[in-house]
Amino acid sequence: MRLAYTDEGPGPVVVLLHGFPLGREMWCEQVDGIGSIYRVIAPDLRGHGDSPAPEGDYTIDEMADDVIELLDALHLSEPVVLGGLSMGGYVALSLMARYADRIRALMLMDTRAAADTPEAVEKREELARAVLAAGHPGPAVEAMTPRLFAKLTLEQRPEKVAPLRELMRRNTARGIVGALRAMATRPDRRADLAAIRVPTLVLVGEEDVVTPPVEAQELADAIAGARLEVIPDAGHLAPYENPSVANGVILRFLDSLRP
Ligand code: MLT
Repeated sequence: MRLAYTDEGPGPVVVLLHGFPLGREMWCEQVDGIGSIYRVIAPDLRGHGDSPAPEGDYTIDEMADDVIELLDALHLSEPVVLGGLSMGGYVALSLMARYADRIRALMLMDTRAAADTPEAVEKREELARAVLAAGHPGPAVEAMTPRLFAKLTLEQRPEKVAPLRELMRRNTARGIVGALRAMATRPDRRADLAAIRVPTLVLVGEEDVVTPPVEAQELADAIAGARLEVIPDAGHLAPYENPSVANGVILRFLDSLRP
């Protein structure tokens, strides 16, 4: 599947995979903040943004295969730095497990390796039904908004919240449902973490309620040499909510990879 994507900047390639139910514009602060030094490639994953939203349920592995197709289309056969936030992290872990030779470093942001609990699967299916019944992403926008942002962002920074609500609203019901079912059926990747051999940064917003810091710590502990960075004044969208701190952390990590 041909994904829509942003491709900005010179230098070593950094691929960034967005969370649910967003799109590539959630990386605007990273395109601004690191795109003058690194080549930032940010696709819309299938079912999101300007990429196709085929009928039917998706899998995280299919979403990952789309990313490989994009890298191939861009003739990027050398391994890249791969970053993923939340659902994008699930896709990144699928890529790491199945295409390790395409990845030279990993950034796991506000994400986890475990599969959904049965309760989480049930909640996703309820949300999928509500979105299907509505015929638009409204129910997902309302369900996700309070979970994505830190309390302070929600209450005092409407200029940060509004553009992402708009981004969510632009998605289709079909794409949202496909992605919800992809997340609900994703495998538990915790057993794969010990096999990760590339430099890894784990980053989480201090007030992330979806994938809280305690889970990020478990993720970092399970990957050899991984470091955890907790970003203050941020919830589940740490690189978007607090870009000055998050970009500093990301740039230090990227610079440490240079020969
Ligand atoms: C995301 O931000 O991608 C989602 O919140 C992830 C999830 O629901 O598991």
